[in-house]
Order: sequence, then structure tokens, then C-alpha cells
Amino acid sequence: MTGLSLDRARIRRLFDLSGDVYATRGGTFATDPYPTFHRLRETGPVHPGAPHEALGWTGDVFFQGLPYPQRPHVSAYDYGTCATVLKDDRRFLTSVPPLPGEPPMVDAGILFMNGTRHRDYRTLVQPSFVPGRAVWWLDNWISTTVHQLIEAFQHDDTVDLNVELCAVIPLLTITGSFGIGVDEALEVRAVVTSDGQDAGALARLLVPIIAARREEPRDDLISVLVQAEVTGEDGVVHRLTDQEVLGFAFLLLAAGSGTTWKQMGITLVALLQHPEALAAAREDRGFLRNVVEESLRWTPTDPVFARFAAEDCELGGVDVPAGAVVHACLAAANRDPSRWERPDEFDPFRPMKPHLGFGHGPHTCLGMHVARAEMTHGIGALLDRFAGMRLDPDAHAPRIIGLYERGPDAVPVRLGGGPR
Ligand code: HEM
Repeated sequence: MTGLSLDRARIRRLFDLSGDVYATRGGTFATDPYPTFHRLRETGPVHPGAPHEALGWTGDVFFQGLPYPQRPHVSAYDYGTCATVLKDDRRFLTSVPPLPGEPPMVDAGILFMNGTRHRDYRTLVQPSFVPGRAVWWLDNWISTTVHQLIEAFQHDDTVDLNVELCAVIPLLTITGSFGIGVDEALEVRAVVTSDGQDAGALARLLVPIIAARREEPRDDLISVLVQAEVTGEDGVVHRLTDQEVLGFAFLLLAAGSGTTWKQMGITLVALLQHPEALAAAREDRGFLRNVVEESLRWTPTDPVFARFAAEDCELGGVDVPAGAVVHACLAAANRDPSRWERPDEFDPFRPMKPHLGFGHGPHTCLGMHVARAEMTHGIGALLDRFAGMRLDPDAHAPRIIGLYERGPDAVPVRLGGGPR
């Protein structure tokens, strides 16, 4: 890629849902899961077992709340119950003490913290992720990346936007905010998708940057982290240790570099398959906000997140023992017909209502305004440059695949006569 010197073949490998990297997320799963979700919801909001079992997937899975074979699993499929599970962080926790024989639970990053500790740590970074800070992200990282990427392929007839654009924007945005150079960005992606096998590599990359920012802070996210102060259990205020900064960094780099890639692909495919929506977005770039929100409702890239029951309880008519894994199927909740008319249709003209695509409650996606800025800006820039852009009629039609991480297998487009 001109100017960015990224290894395309490696990007293709790292951002291929059907490849090895996503095998434990059910990356090759190619059946439409929504008919099953509807069928389950029609007979009750909560069912025993994990969503992949309901969908007939028998391969290994590794995701939040999985596999944990010693624990009972239940799953919620309607909007009300999923929202309750995600909101009630007293009864439904993101981590619990391990059972005998289980590996220790991850204690890195706010997604795996509960209660007050979660709130205290999340507050440290929240100011960098509020809506008003989107401009900071756009000006520092997103805009340049988008324009360099488009420049690299603007004279081509056809391009797979899934790899050439969608994968790279979020990766270079979040690695850029950590002071990690473009050369190392793909290394970071390889580490955060290795299921924890190569966490040492991230430390090797980040520790020198942490030391440099402690010495001389800059206008970036890693400087925010190294200057952040928390009150410990002993009441003493301390700056985040290198280990704590690394924990934060791992979560942000993982969450920030994978999700938006797939959601942006889903959004582009849906937009290009709906001519009226595409015309409305060409007419008014502000309409892209509706397009993105509808895409997050219609097909959220991460369809399920889990919690552990803190106590015996009843959920949607099902008894849930303490320690059980409770899967909130956000994807099913987002198509609950009691909340949305024609829920299976992608319709960005519908009245917008809160959905669960970014989660709900205390762990609601920290990076959602960054993700929205990446998607609206990236797609807006494409519409600005390529008046005739359309799905490539000679390529196979994109398929949305994946089980616990979902996205298109490709977004092949014809750019239509080059830049305007
Ligand atoms: C379209 C893209 C994205 C989607 C669909 C998405 C989705 C989600 C969801 C559903 C959760 C809640 C998980 C739970 O409740 O267990 C979450 C949490 C989180 N997301 Fe995102 N995310 C996206 C992009 C991003 C980006 C770009 C970043 C960082 C720059 C990010 C950082 C985080 C973090 C740190 C959390 C944990 C928050 C906490 O525990 O308080 N996400 N995300």
C-alpha cells in the first residue's frame, strides 16, 4: 500500500474470518443464525446451553464466558432479559473466582472487572472516549489513515474493501493512539488474536513507549494511561503500574482493532445492497449515522457477551445457579419483534431506538464514539471519491459469516470510473 507499507498478504491472513485466527470463534460458521434465534425466543426468553450449541456448532470455542465446561450455561434471546443481564452488575459479573481445575480468570482490563473497581478504572480513560473527543481521534489518526488507504487503491477498477480499508482503519487508529508505528501494527494484531499465547510480545513493544511517555507525555492515549491515578485498596493514590497500563492496552488494542473492521464491512455490504439507502447517504452524509446504527442493530459483529451469575436466581422463568454462565445474545435481542417492526430487514429509514450492538449498562462499549467516527468517516470518504462505487457484479456476493465474531467474507467493489 503506497505510503503505508503494509504487508497485504499478512493483513489478508490476520483479517480472514474463515482462517486459523478465528477458528475458535466459529469463524467459518456460514448459516444464518437468526431463524434459530427467533424460534428459541418464541418459546421463551431464556434457554439452557450456549448459543453455539443451539446453532449446532460442535467445534472448540473460546470467547467471553466460553468454554467453562464445568459450569451450567444458559442463554437469553429477548431484548428485555439481555438488557437486564448486562445492566445488573450486582447479580451478573464479568469475572468470578475460578472453580477447582479452571485456569485463573483474566484480570486484565476493565471488561473483566466488576463493581466499584470497574467504575474507578473506567473513569480514568472515559474522558478520551466521550462524543466530544471524536474530533481528536479523527484529526490525529482516522482522517489521515482513511485518505492514505483510499489513495493507495483509487486508480484500481476493483478492490476488496474488507481488507484494503475496513481492516486497516481501526487497527492504525488504535495502534497510532498508543504510539505504535505502522510497521509494528500488524504484529500487535497478531498478538491480540493469539488467545493470550504471545502477550510477552506486546509488553516488549509497549514497555519502551510507556517509559518514554512517563518521561515526556504526548497528546496520545498511552500518555493518558501513564498519567492516570487510582486509589488502591489501602487508600493510597498511585499512578497505574506498567502492568496495569499493559492490561488496559491489551483490551483496547484487541477491542479497538477487530470489531470496527467487521462492523464496517457489514455496514458497507448492507448499504451497497440497498439502493435507496445508498442514494440517501450520497445525498446527505449525515444519513450515514442512521446507516451505521441500523447495521449495529441488524447484524452486530459481536453477537453474544456473557456474564457469571453471582447468586442463585431466576431469569426469564429459568433457574440459574450461582456460578452459571449467562450468555446475552445481543444479536437476537436486536431483532426482538416486540421492539422492532420487520426486525429482519435492514432499514436505516426506520425510527432509531437504542439497541444492544454496543452492549448496555456499566460495560457499554467504551470505544463506541470512536467506532462510529471511523465508520461514518471511512464510508463518507468512499462516497466522496467514488460516485459510481457498487458491489462488483463479477465477484461472488458477500456472505456474512462467523459465530461469536461476525462479518463479511469480502467486500468486493467496482470503484466505477476512478476518483471524481
Ligand atoms: C463497531 C465496533 C464495536 C462494537 C460493535 C463493539 C462492541 C462492544 C460491546 C458489545 C461491548 C460490551 C461487552 C460486554 O458487555 O461484555 C464492548 C465493550 C468494550 N469496547 Fe467495544 N465495540 C466496538 C468498537 C470498539 C473500539 C473501537 C474500542 C476502543 C477504541 C472498543 C473498546 C471497548 C472496551 C474497552 C470495552 C469494555 C468496556 C467496559 O468493560 O467497561 N470497542 N464493545
